[in-house]
Amino acid sequence: MDSNLNLQTILLLFFLVYVVEAQNGVFDITAYGGKDGGDITQAVMDAWKAACAATGAATVLIPKGTYTMNLVNLAGPCKQAQMNFQLEGIVQAPADPAAMDSESWLLFDHVDDLTVFGGGTLDGQGQKAWESNECSKNSKCPQMPANLRLNFVNNGVVHDITSLNSKMIHIMILSANNLTIQHVTITAPSTSINTDGIHIGRSTGVKILDTTIGTGDDCVSVSDGNKDITVSKVTCGPGHGLSIGSLGKYDNEGPVVGVHISDCTLTKTDNGVRIKSWPDSKPGSASDISFENIVMNDVGNPVIIDQAYCPYGGCSQAPSRVKLSNIKIAGIKGTSSTQEAVKIFCSPALPCENVEIGDINLAFSGGAATCTCANTKPTLTGTQVPPVVCT
Ligand SMILES: *[C@@H]1O[C@H](CO)[C@@H](O)[C@H](O)[C@H]1NC(C)=O
Repeated sequence: MDSNLNLQTILLLFFLVYVVEAQNGVFDITAYGGKDGGDITQAVMDAWKAACAATGAATVLIPKGTYTMNLVNLAGPCKQAQMNFQLEGIVQAPADPAAMDSESWLLFDHVDDLTVFGGGTLDGQGQKAWESNECSKNSKCPQMPANLRLNFVNNGVVHDITSLNSKMIHIMILSANNLTIQHVTITAPSTSINTDGIHIGRSTGVKILDTTIGTGDDCVSVSDGNKDITVSKVTCGPGHGLSIGSLGKYDNEGPVVGVHISDCTLTKTDNGVRIKSWPDSKPGSASDISFENIVMNDVGNPVIIDQAYCPYGGCSQAPSRVKLSNIKIAGIKGTSSTQEAVKIFCSPALPCENVEIGDINLAFSGGAATCTCANTKPTLTGTQVPPVVCT
């Protein structure tokens, strides 16, 4: 009799838990064994698994607190129309990169209608990884995880989270369709190696909006195969600037079509707005690119198109075979930390076509700022300081 009653009580409890969860659709990791101060790797995966299998909108919640977490792979497709990942807490990765042999730490893979938000922080604890990074010397250097990786995400939003001290790229986006990153904060020291803020690869319809990025590599980098990319109201610095490329390194790179960067402020970055392709490259193309209304504060190479990009030296002198066309540069103002404030070096084999340059007003503190320009005949409107004269 007694044991029967207990069984009934337990069943009732299970039923109530199920009803409560199903009603508000919240899968709190603390209900899956996650504890403040503890390791939540398994709890996050278990909560995701339950949420992904549930019907109705579902939210995985990491509440306020400080946790540790190792590699987590959150895969779809999920059952319901909307998956939410609410990160309120601070989550720390293992400091030792050897404990994380992967190209991603927190991975969302093939998830549609995903929203990641919550005001929390992904802390990659990258110090040790940067110290051991040898990728500039060894092209087969061990992989290091991106703090957040989004692979094949359709109709997603990531907003109001912080990525801190990633071991490598902070936010890596691959093959996304209609994904917005908004109001995100990305922070790492200028000395951190290969820590691009946001890297976008082979995606369509990605928007980076109202975002603050200070890191050790490109703030935003857009590689081959991207279409319809918008970067607006982004502040960048420290970092290596806002970049398209580098293009032409690999066979069969997809064209870049439509990258619009506007209303951004860069402070003390190594470069401003940039397109880069390798010399002696594979064939490729980038078209319909605009850089508009950009403020430069003490920025090196504020405007740079470099089709002989060779950061580690030892490149062939043969021209790049990446074709650049339909490029607009306008409303660029502020200060340059290098005398050559504008550098446009297009491929001697494939001159840049249909380049339009509007107002540029860049000052250099050590004398008059200069411009070099080769292998293109731009249309000039408005005023350019330094003057743009092309050969
Ligand atoms: C893009 O994604 C957002 C967020 O999920 C969604 O609200 C919007 O309808 C999507 N747009 C299209 C064209 O599918």
